[in-house]
Amino acid sequence: MQTQIETTNVPPRLHIVPSLSTELRHSTAKAHQSAEGASFIKSLLLGRCTENAYIQYLWALRKIYGTLERALTENKNDMYVSRVYLPELFRSDALNSDFQSWNPSAEVEATQLLNDAVQAYTGTIQNISETKPGLLVAHAYVRYLGDLAGGQTVGKQVARHFAGDKSLEFYQYDFEDIDAMKTLYRARLDEIGTLPGVNISEICTEAQSAFRLNENVFSALSEIS
Ligand code: HEM
Repeated sequence: MQTQIETTNVPPRLHIVPSLSTELRHSTAKAHQSAEGASFIKSLLLGRCTENAYIQYLWALRKIYGTLERALTENKNDMYVSRVYLPELFRSDALNSDFQSWNPSAEVEATQLLNDAVQAYTGTIQNISETKPGLLVAHAYVRYLGDLAGGQTVGKQVARHFAGDKSLEFYQYDFEDIDAMKTLYRARLDEIGTLPGVNISEICTEAQSAFRLNENVFSALSEIS
């Protein structure tokens, strides 16, 4: 005889929707710790970075943000990308001004190591842009939320230790409330996390990879005196 299962008193199963911003934060916590401790980043914080290394840093950032911002703009109508398409965060114009100010000759002889690290980073962004643009969200998260957070600390230390009167627009925004922007950014990520077909774990894996690409660049910069 079959047993009848009583279902009437079974509570409905809770359907918990994971928050993309929380998942990103947790899944990249280790990678963040490692990036924060990178020797080039430490040299920026402690004012031990040479002017030459800082110029090469600006050179690398211009290439990275140029590629990222072109990719975001080309895909701004993508269902996922559109949510984090926030040109007020774009850094390319600021980086161009800084680069001009720090290195008026505009000539930089980047080391082979730095060239390779930057190419690996920009090549990855370009490839994603053409094949799976939704994953650009992970790259935007790592750079733009990072700029709004630790980037502000770095900016203060660079200003304090060695910028003199040179331009530091990279760390400056046209809006005042940085915390409100971080909150908005996380809300947009959470919106993405609820969209049909979204693959949260794939975005988190891509964000971890973006951290590694940044670390490669920092590691190349740490070799420059
Ligand atoms: C100077 C070194 C750094 C310091 C002191 C620092 C500090 C911080 C702090 C305090 C937060 C939390 C901000 C908040 O929730 O309001 C944060 C978040 C973040 N940082 Fe950094 N950071 C540093 C370097 C970096 C680097 C090098 C990257 C990436 C290249 C990065 C990417 C991020 C990201 C993506 C977040 C957002 C985490 C989240 O989802 O809440 N940070 N950082």
